[in-house]
Amino acid sequence: MIPLLDLSGLTRRYAGLVAVDGVDMQVMAGGVHAVIGPNGAGKTTLFNLVSGLVPPSAGRIRFVGQDVTGLAADRRAALGLARTFQNIRVFAAMTVLENVLTGLHARLAVGLPGVVLRLPRFRAEERRAVARARAALDLVGLADKAGQRAQALSYGDQRRLEIARAMAPEPPLVLLDEPAAGMNPAETEALATLVRRLSEFGATVLLVEHDMGFVMDISDTVTVLNFGKRIYEGTPQAVRQEPAVIEAYLGHKVAARLAAGAKAGVRGAG
Ligand SMILES: Nc1ncnc2c1ncn2[C@@H]1O[C@H](COP(=O)(O)OP(=O)(O)O)[C@@H](O)[C@H]1O
Ligand SMILES: [Mg+2]
Repeated sequence: MIPLLDLSGLTRRYAGLVAVDGVDMQVMAGGVHAVIGPNGAGKTTLFNLVSGLVPPSAGRIRFVGQDVTGLAADRRAALGLARTFQNIRVFAAMTVLENVLTGLHARLAVGLPGVVLRLPRFRAEERRAVARARAALDLVGLADKAGQRAQALSYGDQRRLEIARAMAPEPPLVLLDEPAAGMNPAETEALATLVRRLSEFGATVLLVEHDMGFVMDISDTVTVLNFGKRIYEGTPQAVRQEPAVIEAYLGHKVAARLAAGAKAGVRGAG
């Protein structure tokens, strides 16, 4: 079976540092794959490389067997590589439904003249887009808020809205960058249920997250980065016991957890 996403020797250098350093990683179809690591480990840079926002200094990116290393971000999105961002990006003045439609309009096949002239083919596509957008809102539990302005939503609901927008085109792969950041415990728990549901909905989830409890609960595979390098990959159970991983976090998160006396897991500061 070919991997859904296949990274080989992926590298990104910035002046004076290597943010992502020769990373080999394969994401197989189905389930939830998490990327963890201390602050500055290169997680967001890895996502930016995969989604095409940042060009690699070296290495290859294959998506469903196709080399996409040189493809622009919008072309990758059109192939079904969706993402959300670490910092919320919703259109505050638009309605919830309109926000989700922005995730679909880039993919309308009819083209600009059809949109401007509102040709019959456009109207049929528009109806289909609205139906898809509503299905995505239903998936994340926001169907009853479709007509509200995005700015009226709670923080947790805005994050769910971003997931709906990413999911509306029914992408085979969705990248979530710290989806639980800034959420309260109740929102985080609801998010865990939602992320598991995304994989049942047919999307493979690739996730960066600081909240260890969240990662350990919902992931099938965990890849650990430290100083841009992949230092370990395994099941959540195996990762927990791996000395190299514990060491990578020591002085960052584990020390903080010990100090706080928390039992449930480690909470990152973002
Ligand atoms: N545009 C950039 N220019 C220079 N350095 C960067 C840039 N983006 C990220 N870095 C550096 O690369 C390293 C990895 O950053 P990042 O990928 O954001 O880590 P993470 O998401 O794991 O916290 C950090 O040292 C960061 O300061
Ligand atoms: Mg980050």
